[in-house]
Amino acid sequence: MSALDRALTIEDLRRMARRRVPKMFYDYADAGSYTESTYRENETDFQKIKLRQKVAVDLNNRTLASTMIGQPVTMPVAIAPAATGGMQVADGEIKAAKAAEKFGIPFTLSTMAVCSIEDIAENTTKPFWFQLYVMKDRGFIERLIDRAKVAKCSALVLTMDLQILGQRHKDIRNNLSTPPKFTPKSVWQMATRPAWAFGMLGTKRRTFRNIVGHVTGADDLSSLSSWTAAQFDPSLNWADVTWVKNRFGGPVIVKGVLDADDAAKAVDAGADAVIVSNHGGRQLDGAPSSIRVLPEIVDAVGNRTEVHLDGGIRSGQDVLKALALGAKGTYIGRPMLYGLGAGGEAGVTRALNIIQKELDITMALCGERDVNNLGPHNIYSNDLVRRQGY
Ligand SMILES: Cc1cc2nc3c(=O)[nH]c(=O)nc-3n(C[C@H](O)[C@H](O)[C@H](O)COP(=O)(O)O)c2cc1C
Repeated sequence: MSALDRALTIEDLRRMARRRVPKMFYDYADAGSYTESTYRENETDFQKIKLRQKVAVDLNNRTLASTMIGQPVTMPVAIAPAATGGMQVADGEIKAAKAAEKFGIPFTLSTMAVCSIEDIAENTTKPFWFQLYVMKDRGFIERLIDRAKVAKCSALVLTMDLQILGQRHKDIRNNLSTPPKFTPKSVWQMATRPAWAFGMLGTKRRTFRNIVGHVTGADDLSSLSSWTAAQFDPSLNWADVTWVKNRFGGPVIVKGVLDADDAAKAVDAGADAVIVSNHGGRQLDGAPSSIRVLPEIVDAVGNRTEVHLDGGIRSGQDVLKALALGAKGTYIGRPMLYGLGAGGEAGVTRALNIIQKELDITMALCGERDVNNLGPHNIYSNDLVRRQGY
């Protein structure tokens, strides 16, 4: 039995990743902003929701197949965009995209990925999704959107919650950069992870390839970090959603909504779906968990648009709870990154298999056969789930 086969939970994959990935990159993934309270609550709030067991139901012919923004998915779990996936393992985003494609779920590539839009397009056969950060250089953003169109991306995920970076103490303490600076500490971290280091030596993909070579002023790496830090546009507003949508001409999913009024504004501006998200607890520390605010956002806009959720999903049980509370789809960030660190493409496949099996068995034990029939009847109401009907 391989080490990956012995991993039974996402937590097992996390521990494997910690042993295989240099500390600064492992810490980058396993971090929230400031006190990390929102990061922790994303996970612990799921545990407060209790499932209703139902018995004596015919459990034959179960299905997890569904749709997200009208696109078929083998289970309603997409890969969330994550910067520097290609630093958890060499060519990480290509590996995660391949795993997602074979599994039949959407892969979302981050603007701040190591592998470029073109790298993913060349190494996959089905359309993927592209996540957009809006920067001040609108000429660059127009070209980025056009590159996503040329690559036949079937949706844009527009992130609204990171115009200013929430501070993550670990990254500052680790002096994090991509690619890493060669200091005695970083060289030690990499030398003690030889499989990772050999992988990195064998790839040319070690910087932000959606950006480098596509903007003036960010051609060499020292200028790149200052370019990106200065580039996120603090004036981003709802009118930009319409602007992005018109330029792209396809579905736009608005990511980073935690408030019912904001969700309504996103839909008014043309969003085809909203993702209830606090960026995995990496931005506003002290914000509620995503699962806690999901019901009020479903109440506000659920009849006008699809509501998706990310943040804290570590099991199929968590996916089921989100669907029961009205999410049409979910995303995994860290489970994918831990899978990459633990075993590259096979590690991401393992993460997806774990979640799929947990979701299927949990659904059956709730007396359900079709993931599309999950609803408030599957859970008990409590302080998290107070609203009428739940
Ligand atoms: C290491 C890391 C990098 C991320 N980079 C991005 C990014 O580039 N763009 C984005 O919209 N969200 C980014 N996110 C947020 C994820 O898309 C997602 O909202 C979050 O990871 C979900 O929470 P989870 O990790 O608990 O599943 C990142 C998250 C992590 C952990």
